[in-house]
Amino acid sequence: MTLKLNEKFIRDFVSSEEIQNMQPMVNTAHRMLVERTSPGSDFLGWMDLPVAYDRAEFAAIKEAAKKIQKSCDIFIVIGIGGSYLGARAVIEFLKSPLYNNLAKDTPQIYFSGNSISSSAMEELLALCEGKDVCINVISKSGTTTEPAVAFRIFRNLLEQKYGAEGARERIFVTTDRARGTLKNFADQAGFETFVVPDDVGGRFSVLTAVGLLPIAVSGADIDALMQGAAEARAAYTDPSLEKNICYRYAALRNILYRKGKTTEILAGYEPYELMLCEWWKQLYGESEGKDNRGIFPASVIFSTDLHSLGQYIQDGLRNIFETVLSVKDSGSHVEIPEDPANIDGLNFLSGKTISYVNDTAMLGTLFAHNDGGVPNLVLELADRSAHSLGHLLYFFELGCALSGNLLGVNPFNQPGVEAYKKNMFALLGKAGYEAQKAELEARMQ
Ligand code: PA5
Repeated sequence: MTLKLNEKFIRDFVSSEEIQNMQPMVNTAHRMLVERTSPGSDFLGWMDLPVAYDRAEFAAIKEAAKKIQKSCDIFIVIGIGGSYLGARAVIEFLKSPLYNNLAKDTPQIYFSGNSISSSAMEELLALCEGKDVCINVISKSGTTTEPAVAFRIFRNLLEQKYGAEGARERIFVTTDRARGTLKNFADQAGFETFVVPDDVGGRFSVLTAVGLLPIAVSGADIDALMQGAAEARAAYTDPSLEKNICYRYAALRNILYRKGKTTEILAGYEPYELMLCEWWKQLYGESEGKDNRGIFPASVIFSTDLHSLGQYIQDGLRNIFETVLSVKDSGSHVEIPEDPANIDGLNFLSGKTISYVNDTAMLGTLFAHNDGGVPNLVLELADRSAHSLGHLLYFFELGCALSGNLLGVNPFNQPGVEAYKKNMFALLGKAGYEAQKAELEARMQ
């Protein structure tokens, strides 16, 4: 079993009857997904991706990854939001958050264009000095400011370093199949392009070229990732809450939300889960947080954050629930050594593995947080393999889509993201935003 949902630590908060009562709503939400009548149904392409992906492009991704591995020391992935979080999450989960320090036969991978930080850019440019560099710019719209600015800078760098011809071999573009300025530009310049399918939105795109090219460059197994996702797709087709743990997860969080648990904390126990939590936060936050509704997605990595946010979770405002991610076999077996002087009094742990202590910390925390009035769902993932991660990614995507339908929002749009962009463009003096600029300047007086 790749993934299990352990509900022991939710029993005091949600009754079986409440779960059963959700079944009709879940049936409707499920029908809306499979019959493609859900709000935003033009963006349901991710549902079939694990079995219906473009095989020719998949092969081209592997070829491009080999070429990149051979020709550079540093591979820069330029993108923001759904155009970078999935790749970064998978690379850190499967390889390491220290991938760049540990990589031997594959390039170092840095992510750029996900902020407007001048210092981050300066530091990355410094890292590139004297190194061979390839870049992959990823933008479905092709017009997002942050990656567009970074692309200008790195394109210039490559053209200065290798000339136009040489740069062409080192620039890879992932964007819309046919439309958009980036696609036109890439075609004119002769860059190799990969596709963000029309019916897959950014935050659901990790299993397209958006995620797969950088993941393949890291040497992670993209076949196994897709197979794991295909396993999840096959596992969660029956809407029965007795059988479908993905829908059960969505139903439980909906019940908790209606009981005032308006914040969900995804709690990992491994530093390699940190970026997975960031990916999950975007997936759920951007999909559900609209029309003045939605669970606020937060995340922690324990035991690190037990020493920072633990106090609040134990004792603060009782509007939270936790979804704990437990990787049953993380594949690492470091033992705690004996200390003859027993200075710290921890010799009772000598010979035990760090993982054993981590698992015990998790159990102790589950009991403590439950006693503190925090419902805890536990997702038990078999191991840290690409197959298991592929399963988990699909589980979260499907759970998110069903959740959005249960909540009565369109999970596939993000109208709220435009507000800051309009203000920024107005304040920067972009043509067409003059009235908005005047209005904002008046408000600053
Ligand atoms: O999920 C989404 O759609 C967004 O997070 C986008 O991925 C993000 O805004 C980047 O957009 P684009 O790929 O068009 O540059």
